[in-house]
Amino acid sequence: TRGGLTFKVADLSEESVRYGRTEIRLAEEEMPGLMACRREYGESQPLKGQRIMGSLHMTIQTAVLIETLVELGAEVRWVSCNIFSTQDHAAAAVVAGPSGTADKPKGVPVYAWKGESLADYWWCTEQALRFENGDGPTLIVDDGGDATMLIHKGVEFELAGSVPGPETTDNVEFKEVLKTLARVQQETPDRWQKVAAACKGVSEETTTGIKALNKLEKDGKLLFPAINVNDSCTKSKFDNLYGCRHSLIDGLFRATDVMVSGKVAIVCGYGDVGKGCCQSLRGQGARVIVTEIDPICALQAAMEGYEVTTLEDALPEADIVITTTGNYDIIRLEHMQAMKDKTIVGNIGHFDNEIQMAKLEKAATRTNIKPQYDEWTFEDGHSILILAEGRLLNLGCATGHPSFVMSASFTNQTIAQIDLALAANGQDSLSGLTYAENKVTLLPKILDEKVARLHLGKLGVKLTELSEDQADYIAVEKDGPYKPSHYRY
Ligand code: NAI
Repeated sequence: TRGGLTFKVADLSEESVRYGRTEIRLAEEEMPGLMACRREYGESQPLKGQRIMGSLHMTIQTAVLIETLVELGAEVRWVSCNIFSTQDHAAAAVVAGPSGTADKPKGVPVYAWKGESLADYWWCTEQALRFENGDGPTLIVDDGGDATMLIHKGVEFELAGSVPGPETTDNVEFKEVLKTLARVQQETPDRWQKVAAACKGVSEETTTGIKALNKLEKDGKLLFPAINVNDSCTKSKFDNLYGCRHSLIDGLFRATDVMVSGKVAIVCGYGDVGKGCCQSLRGQGARVIVTEIDPICALQAAMEGYEVTTLEDALPEADIVITTTGNYDIIRLEHMQAMKDKTIVGNIGHFDNEIQMAKLEKAATRTNIKPQYDEWTFEDGHSILILAEGRLLNLGCATGHPSFVMSASFTNQTIAQIDLALAANGQDSLSGLTYAENKVTLLPKILDEKVARLHLGKLGVKLTELSEDQADYIAVEKDGPYKPSHYRY
């Protein structure tokens, strides 16, 4: 606690705050969508009275999102959604706030630092869900669904009467979830039911989180409405694709300094993230091989000129193997054992279970090279090089996506939060939706197009204007939306 503000970050020094604030100022120039939201909605304060909890990588770009939500009236608390993804100077600057200092912080309570333990991670998440007087959030910005999952599991166990012991699961992460829930249940037996009742909605950032939300909805267990930000076109077709095209190679280089040209790289999964990863590796002159389970994506990869085969077939020649699937057990122990000496292995999908790290720990010896970069040596003497302990390497080994592409993602987040807040207040939402049911909803295309529009000027794009006659001819409104909802881009 400093100056009345309680938080937990690595380094709230003057130097760290200054560095963070300078980078935030530069990022604001690259985030035109968020700055436009501040101008457009700053005066009407649509988020006034809202308590927003965010669980999303605590980076410089996220700092600009957080300060946008504050400028629109919200009270905000924040955590990272990954133990390695926090930029400590960003966290420090957000705590200090635009008008505060290291000594007199006036910003937002952040609970995040680079290199948290799993126990820290869930402690932080629980702290961020606890506003003054113990109130829960009215709105959540989630990335990967951890905050939403904690609340839903909490309610499930409260209704069941007890939290299962950590010994009931082999999953080391879920053990920490169970311990956190048990601690809370002892203090306040109906804590999570109260939190769920007060929560007016969540906007979810990523593919993996959307899968979890869709499952909750299908099972009739979703406890508040959700907006699927990931599947706004201006999110997944930009952030997942061009963002990863930038940050995959950035993470790979910062960790290893390896020459990629001429090497053989396997990319598991050819969805939006996989497509971006393939482009960046090919751009460096790597020979890229793709693995896929979906015939459409496999055909796309083949027609882009990538070899598509199975991991088992491709492994003997691979120098680099990257997982992008959002699925689990993609690189199994037997794959790692069969890899060439010094093969570089990394994951850019949301969770670390794409690579069998727990099994690797039992079968090989770890030599730490530097933070988030390890050599694992097998008994036969050959070794492989693992990035960020199998966690998303672009945020673990580098700083994630650059500001401009995150501006598009976070403008969708801001619009989603405004929409949920307006609807909860019984006002007309931007989308016209009411969010009366606990369902997963997409923002309408006209708002997606708006987000894109806000990013054209920065790139010097001149848009052609449709005439009334032309609009009639192709059967759209002159001002959009220009495509039906099923259009794939
Ligand atoms: P997506 O669904 O578009 O692509 C995943 C692809 O993997 C699909 O085409 C699927 O058919 C394929 N796949 C599934 N199981 C497979 C298997 N066993 N072998 C080979 N391919 C398999 O999803 P998207 O948007 O590309 O996201 C992928 C993951 O990346 C998710 O976990 C998402 O949350 C995460 N993500 C990470 C980002 C980062 O900055 N690190 C940014 C955006 C998303």
